[in-house]
Amino acid sequence: PDFVHIGRKLLKWYDSNARALPWRNTKQPYNIWISEIILQQTQVKQGLNHYLNFVERFPDVQALAAAETDEVLLYWKGMGYYSRALNLHKAAKQVVEDFNGNFPEKYEDILKLKGIGKYTAAAISSICFDEKIPAVDGNFYRVVSRLFADDFDISQSSAFKYFSELSMMMMPENKPGDFNQAVMDLGSEICRPKKPDCGSCPLNENCIAFQSGTVHKFPVKLKR
Ligand code: ADE
Repeated sequence: PDFVHIGRKLLKWYDSNARALPWRNTKQPYNIWISEIILQQTQVKQGLNHYLNFVERFPDVQALAAAETDEVLLYWKGMGYYSRALNLHKAAKQVVEDFNGNFPEKYEDILKLKGIGKYTAAAISSICFDEKIPAVDGNFYRVVSRLFADDFDISQSSAFKYFSELSMMMMPENKPGDFNQAVMDLGSEICRPKKPDCGSCPLNENCIAFQSGTVHKFPVKLKR
């Protein structure tokens, strides 16, 4: 497959089809961070207003670090998984204390913050700092495995490295953040787990699973 060509096509689709979301108007790592933590366990539709209220009350990392825990939790009300809010608060203090109040810019440093795992660190560093690192989650495995009809078992721990490397071949040199968000949009709007809308997919001509009528077979997940 022409990996680079597929990557460019996906970016081009994203340019005119990206969902208009408030955190897409900024590259402030603080804002991207808050949005990514919300979206870990909350749907975009439910997360929108929470995000807007949260960043209005706590507009930057200093404001969040200085807040009382109870008030941070109050702004999390309705979203559940309150450990996310507690970790956000702790991480804000970490940024103030360990990083001089400047949000870290390197993937490896971002990973040190409380509550931030590989997916979130990849999203922040690609969107805000143009680091070429794929944001790997279930959506990502589904999109990439279908595209190449790749039966590598995603329940294996080695799947992370395997699909990361595969996607790196498609990832354009510029706009890695757009690439990651294009995969997110494609995975949630078109390349859905059930009833994927392959007719609307910008990559259907390149998708080996679609071309061979085997979309439903991917991703392969042997262990539950
Ligand atoms: N889900 C997780 N991160 C997202 C983002 N940046 N945009 C849309 N959906 C997402």
